[in-house]
Amino acid sequence: MNRDSRERWSSQLGFTLAAVGSAVGLGNMWRFSYMTAENGGAAFVVLYVAMTLLVGLPVMLAELTVGRSSRRSPIQALVYFGGSAWKPLGVLFVTAGVVILSYYSVIAGWTVRYAVEAVTGGFAEDSAAHFGAIATGTRAVVWHLGFMAVTAAVVSVGIRSGIERVSLILMPLLGVLVIGLAIYAATLDGAAAGYAYYLQTDFREVLSFDVLKDAASQAFFSLSLGMGAMLTYASYLSREHHLPDESLMIAVSDFGVAFVAGLVVFPLLFALGLEKDVVASTVGALFITLPKAFASMGAAGQVIGALFFLALVVGALTSAISLLEVVVASVIDGLGWARPRAAWIAALGIALLGIPSALSQDFLGLMDQIGANVCLPLGALLLSLMVGWGRRDAVAEVSVGAEGVRWFFLWRGLLRFVVPAVLAVVLVLSVGDTWKAFAGLFSSPA
Ligand code: PHE
Repeated sequence: MNRDSRERWSSQLGFTLAAVGSAVGLGNMWRFSYMTAENGGAAFVVLYVAMTLLVGLPVMLAELTVGRSSRRSPIQALVYFGGSAWKPLGVLFVTAGVVILSYYSVIAGWTVRYAVEAVTGGFAEDSAAHFGAIATGTRAVVWHLGFMAVTAAVVSVGIRSGIERVSLILMPLLGVLVIGLAIYAATLDGAAAGYAYYLQTDFREVLSFDVLKDAASQAFFSLSLGMGAMLTYASYLSREHHLPDESLMIAVSDFGVAFVAGLVVFPLLFALGLEKDVVASTVGALFITLPKAFASMGAAGQVIGALFFLALVVGALTSAISLLEVVVASVIDGLGWARPRAAWIAALGIALLGIPSALSQDFLGLMDQIGANVCLPLGALLLSLMVGWGRRDAVAEVSVGAEGVRWFFLWRGLLRFVVPAVLAVVLVLSVGDTWKAFAGLFSSPA
């Protein structure tokens, strides 16, 4: 598509909310809580904040810079910014989008289903059995396909009247829901124990490579970095935007929602004596322990649970939209298809790829490993090298709209040295994990 006829966000707020919508999603509420629980609580939170600031923010700014200056979809944007040698990185971005959305939509499908069940009948007493029954199989496939269809419908309409309009309505709603839930959670007996687990750090635990690895990949996943989502959204920006301010705004909102979601989840679990479950937590944790908590709270639990899952649905939808937009924008620019056709066909392909994840949780776990723990750090590592060392003057590009900012040399320094070093360590560890998950999938008895 001609760069000048490219669609634009209609307002600054529209872009910011859409980008926050991309960042805030299942990652903040589902993945953040179970990662925090798995990695010993507060220690993880501290490293996560450090990773967000030190590694996440520089990469965010790099994506926004490449997207806005090229005004193209990822593959072409990378070629524009770095030269044709970077084309494979663009392909990696699109692939990561496909992989992540394929299972993300399955989890989102569970979420929609829980929200609907909460409204229509409440939560099952035996939440583990219920989760086992709905998480895999034909019904999971149906909810997954339904969720993909809604996502495709929004993306097919376009930037202003689709993505931007939906974000303008849904993001404020999500903020209100999460804050309201946290206030409610504070009134529960036992909330204090939840806060303590969540917020008191044992610093000896912080210093482990494994926690570091999880904190880094969680930061990338949660900020939607390393696969061109922010890049693509920034490609619809005009040049007067102050990119550092935008990056900060997105990162702070994203952390804010994750943090407040923790203030909901941990008090709830501790108030109802479910903390053991959470420590043994896995992918399904949120979908087993929280409904158990809601079920034991009677009518109040039904209302609170419905609102909680509604917030999750909202977050999941705006994130899935951004994942699909990466693929759709690439198809529009690369193959010259019209937007609706690109949106529906891409969504169909991704939906099919997601079916195995709707049939096996181990497969879903493997996809999450590959997508979130390998593709994102790898994508971000290569992107930081390209922007840090590449042929274009990144500082000149990022300065447009942000003239006079003095610390851009620091940003470039982080991209050149610190970000690649941290991500290289993360990648080595993640590749090992993924290999184990892969081997486990094929060696485990059926
Ligand atoms: N950031 C989203 C979340 O937290 C997930 C996502 C990852 C979206 C990568 C886009 C790209 O749920």
